[in-house]
Amino acid sequence: MNAPLLAAMVGLAVPGTALAQDAMPRPAGITPGEATEGARLVADRQKSLCVLCHSGPFPNPHLQGNLAPDLSGIGARLSEDEIRLRVTDMKRLNPDSLMPTYAASKAGERVGTAWRGRPILVEQEIEHIVAYLASLKE
Ligand code: HEC
Repeated sequence: MNAPLLAAMVGLAVPGTALAQDAMPRPAGITPGEATEGARLVADRQKSLCVLCHSGPFPNPHLQGNLAPDLSGIGARLSEDEIRLRVTDMKRLNPDSLMPTYAASKAGERVGTAWRGRPILVEQEIEHIVAYLASLKE
């Protein structure tokens, strides 16, 4: 884990580093997510890609990745607003993160050509994922 991300997680300011806020409220006009729909999206290897990098209490454990932290119990470690920021744009916390920016990819980011410049998930889909991950308490 790099120092700015660690600092952001524990709420420290690093001199000379513009630190993003560590949380993001639910956008206006977006309704609270449904955990069952979020579970389906997280497990979708083609659309969300989450399980290519993350393991967790999801179907097909043998197909889950180990490039990223296990998401078991994430709802006990992070608030909904903290989870929302990470799924929306992890690069605000860690510019070097491997994790795709789901809501708004910008020019120059390492995303596949098919996704360049357009969202991978719409805000309401992110909200379903937030509801699901927030429900993972152990
Ligand atoms: C290409 C790999 C990759 C993909 C795909 C990916 N992530 Fe991540 N994710 C990471 C990495 C690496 C981290 C660790 C933080 C960092 O990069 O600095 C992370 C961190 C997180 C965190 C914070 C975990 C913690 O313990 O603090 C959450 C929540 C998360 N990812 C959710 C998701 C969700 C939901 C998806 C799918 C919509 C997803 N990720 C897709 C690589 C990925």
